[in-house]
Amino acid sequence: MDSKNIQQLNFENIDSNPISNSSIIINKNRFLDVLKEIVVQKDINIVKKKVFNIKDILTQFKPDNLGLLNNDIDGDTISFRKDILETELHQVLESQTLERAIYYLNRLEKSIQKFKTNKINDINLHRWKEYDDIITDSLWILNKRDNSGAHLAWYWGNFIPQIPNQLMRRFTKKGNWVLDTFAGSGTTLIECRKLGRNGIGIELNQEVSALSEKLIEKEKNKYNVVSDLVVGDSRIVDLKLILNKYNISKVQLIIMHPPYFDIIKFSDNEDDLSNSKDVDTFLKNFGEVVDNTKPYLEKGRYLALVIGDKYSKGEWIPLGFYCMQEVLKRDFLLKSIIVKNFDETRGKRNQVDLWRYRALVGGFYIFKHEYIMLFQKK
Ligand SMILES: C[S@@+](CC[C@H](N)C(=O)[O-])C[C@H]1O[C@@H](n2cnc3c(N)ncnc32)[C@H](O)[C@@H]1O
Repeated sequence: MDSKNIQQLNFENIDSNPISNSSIIINKNRFLDVLKEIVVQKDINIVKKKVFNIKDILTQFKPDNLGLLNNDIDGDTISFRKDILETELHQVLESQTLERAIYYLNRLEKSIQKFKTNKINDINLHRWKEYDDIITDSLWILNKRDNSGAHLAWYWGNFIPQIPNQLMRRFTKKGNWVLDTFAGSGTTLIECRKLGRNGIGIELNQEVSALSEKLIEKEKNKYNVVSDLVVGDSRIVDLKLILNKYNISKVQLIIMHPPYFDIIKFSDNEDDLSNSKDVDTFLKNFGEVVDNTKPYLEKGRYLALVIGDKYSKGEWIPLGFYCMQEVLKRDFLLKSIIVKNFDETRGKRNQVDLWRYRALVGGFYIFKHEYIMLFQKK
């Protein structure tokens, strides 16, 4: 089951209607007028008859005698996901009492008139059902990598674009600033361009950074955001100076995808966290990155840590939880621990078999997951 399916299971009432993702553009003022006329009715049968007519016009292509689809008379239109709107109208038709039917109609009217968001994202909570691709479960099974746009997946040790995409849509608004302290191939900065967030990346390896910069530039910048990839060591880089360039003092989201200690050696540079001499030194170095960046995260905003565990000499080393402790020591609030699948055993069949044999002999399990941990700055 993929994550989208898991997500859909959480939505009641949707499965009674055919799911189609097409949207429908409606004359907003006309729609509001029609709804206002209906909510003053005192007879549930008249209410239902009128709603039935609306449903027919909007979803069954019946003649538009109400002018709902006439978008030429004035410029104010509203776009709905057709399947969700159909569900809303269906609820009215299924109502047992006049009060219930009016309640649903008032709710629909409110979702047209008002835009309700919280402080940290652009999700319109009056129309939350339309965001069924935003994951809210703590288990992420993402089987297919998003290869659209400038993403090339050329970098060994990158993360899939869906990770920063999901995080930014949950924890930032358009125009906010995102800092990625281990930018690598620029996955976060490419997603920033797609979503209209300003992105600052820090990457130690100059060659990798140069290649990434070119790729980031390939992604269309339709929201005219900043994409700044800085070569530096995230433990000591002068963030104040970088942010000053843009007249800002804080960012709204930090994403950290450090090396999983020495699983992949990213370079020979001794400042590279993957060259830390042991786990304790790795954690000390990682903690220094948190120390160096925390002052520049806006209060109430999120730090997302993407990390996996490792084995060493037959022992499971819980790097993820060790790193989590490093962040918590610095007085963040733990908001979520997400477990995400990964499938690295794309290798040859006999290699897969070999690992399975070793697992059976050695009494261990083959890694298939990593963590996305979310912390809020107090
Ligand atoms: C796991 S990768 C990040 C991959 C990235 N999320 C992507 O999608 O391409 C970790 C990156 O951290 C970089 N790195 C290691 N030590 C660093 C340090 N001290 N400061 C900044 N970057 C560092 C490595 O060069 C590597 O590119």
